[in-house]
Order: sequence, then structure tokens, then C-alpha cells
Amino acid sequence: MKLHIPKNLEKIIPYPPGKTQGELEREYGVANSIKLASNENAWGPSPKVVRALRSSLTTIHRYPDSSCHDLIQGIAGKTGFNPDEIVVGNGSNEVIEFLVKAFVRQGDEVISSHPSFLMYQKFVQVHGGENFVVPLRKMKHDLEAIQDVVSEKTRLIFLDNPNNPTGSSLNPLEVYTFFSKVPESVIVVLDEAYVDFMDNEQQVDVFSLIRNTKGRCPVVSLRTFSKVYGLPGLRVGFGLMPGEIAGCLNKVRQPFNINQMAQVGALAALEDQDYYHYIVDVTRRGRAHLQTEMEGLGCVVYPSQANFLLVNVGGDGQAVYEALLRKGVIVRPMTAYGFADCIRVTIGTDVENTRFLESLCEILRGLGCV
Ligand SMILES: Cc1ncc(COP(=O)(O)O)c(C=O)c1O
Repeated sequence: MKLHIPKNLEKIIPYPPGKTQGELEREYGVANSIKLASNENAWGPSPKVVRALRSSLTTIHRYPDSSCHDLIQGIAGKTGFNPDEIVVGNGSNEVIEFLVKAFVRQGDEVISSHPSFLMYQKFVQVHGGENFVVPLRKMKHDLEAIQDVVSEKTRLIFLDNPNNPTGSSLNPLEVYTFFSKVPESVIVVLDEAYVDFMDNEQQVDVFSLIRNTKGRCPVVSLRTFSKVYGLPGLRVGFGLMPGEIAGCLNKVRQPFNINQMAQVGALAALEDQDYYHYIVDVTRRGRAHLQTEMEGLGCVVYPSQANFLLVNVGGDGQAVYEALLRKGVIVRPMTAYGFADCIRVTIGTDVENTRFLESLCEILRGLGCV
């Protein structure tokens, strides 16, 4: 083969997804493994979602509704936005890609933080843009440093709030002040994949931020059905944004990007608010419990507003990750994110949390970390 591989592709390292239970069980010969590695909802989808999906199966010989009419109406009803201010993607990942596809050309600049969700930089590389990566300060987005690197070429700024992998969140006042200083030509993307797990007073008022853009940057909020709603396997996320931006994203969106089961499942999830509140509640309680218990083991647990915790285990994080794998517990190693002493653990069910804590305790004692 004599391929002409574009220079920008040569530099791209494929996204490292969390290890699956199947992989672990094949590689390590363990059974009954648990996965606390990908910030999923450990309790699964609402039973009402499962029923809605079952009854929708017999119509999958038809193409799905390309406009996602019912789902968009459902999102509009819940958020107060107009349907023409909502764009649905194959996971919020796809909405990130739409933003880059629509607004970033060769040489344009995009600002994000390190560490943060890895897909921002990857899409920018694929589309030939320039990544400006600003280190976190005290485990949070450094808004002043971000402001300093904004230039005439800046098209997008990505802020995951809460941040993945630290779980830290920005104070709403800091966010409003920052936005008021960003030029009107730059779109700021607030990635709110974990917003539901935040304390209510920490949540940013995206409705007024998106609606009142006079004299400052436009804002896009990204949401997902992969976390609190427990549907990562269906792949659905959405963006809330000014209608003018949504119009541009719809031009780069292919028809039928959201399959029929995803549309039905996401709408049913949105309608089951009791289940939503139950998941928020058990996750927040599990987070507090895991934090207290790990601190009791001598770990440093970073304050998190998400459904995961970044934990400094006081030694080699990679070794702790591997020892957990041998006990059938999958968490995320953090060396690639620059936190060699840390692991990231997703909040699980009580049974999973207990198994993780017992395993961690044995390992830390064995390694002499506690
Ligand atoms: C900060 C952040 N944004 C976006 C996503 C992507 O979610 P989705 O499954 O909706 O593509 C993730 C997934 O873990 C994430 O951590």
C-alpha cells in the first residue's frame, strides 16, 4: 500500500476506553468482575426505559425519525429551550465533533484544559485545528490562563464542568465573570455531562447564559443520557445553544444519526423523573460514603461534584490499578492524565463499593501505602 496518511492523523493516539469486564475476565481468568471505570450508572436504566425499548423493537425495519421530533420536544419541555436551540448527537461526543466540524478550519485555535475529557483535543486534531492546552490550577480550570491565550484565531473553548478526571467544578460566579470577558466570536462549550450530580447551588444557569449573549461569547451546554440516565449503550447526548449555532450544527449532522431505540429510550428516561432523582440521590450518598472510607484508609480524595472520585493512593497508582484488576475490580489508572499516584473510581452500588473498598484496603496494606 502507498497511502498518503495526513500529518495530523499521524500524531493522534486512539482514545483509551476503560477495560471491559469481558476483557478482564479473559486476560486475568477472574469471574464476577465489577467495573467502576467509565463513570457509568451502576444501577442501570429505568425499568420504564426497558419496557419502552421492548415495545419499540418491532418497528426497527423503518429508518428512525431524522429530526428526532419527539425526543427534542421532550428535551424542550424539560429544559425550557425551543426545539431549534437543541441538537441531538450520537452521544454528546458527536455534538463535540459537530462543533469542531462546523467551526474549526486548518490553523484555527481551540482551547481546552489538561487534564480534561480527551475527545476535545482529538476532534480538533482530526479536523486540522490547533489545540491550546492550559494546565489545571489547583485541580480546576484556570480561567485566567485560558483568557490569556484567547486570540483572534480562537474558535472554541471547552470547559468540562465538572471536570473529568478530577471531578472539580467551577464556582458559578467565576463562570459568569469569565464569560463576560470572552469575545463574541468565540463559542464557549460548557460540557455538563455530570451536571446532575452537582449540588444545586453549584450548577450554572445555562438558560440565561445561552439566551442573553449580548456583548459577550455565545455559550453551548452539552448534556448526555450516558451518565445519570444510564444509557451509554444507546449513545445519545444533546447540546443546548443559540438557534444560530444549532442551525450550523444541523448542516454537518448526517440524517438518522440517532437510531430509533436511542430516541425511544432517551425519551422514556427523560419522562421517568422519579428514577432520575433516585439515581442522583444514591450516587451522591455513595460518593460521600466512598470518600469518607478512602480517607479513613489514608488516601487523599479530591472533592468531586461528579459520579466518580479521583483518589491519591499515596503510592504507585498503576500498581494499585493492576492489583485491583487481579481482584476483579476495574477502575481507571491515571498515569496518562499526569496523576501517577492516583486512580479514578466511579461510584457503584453499595455491594460494588464495599467490594472495591475491601480490595483497596488489602492492596494498600500489602504495598505498605497505609
Ligand atoms: C466530560 C465528558 N464529556 C462527554 C462525555 C461523553 O459522553 P457521551 O457518552 O454522551 O458521548 C464524557 C464521557 O465519559 C465525559 O466524561
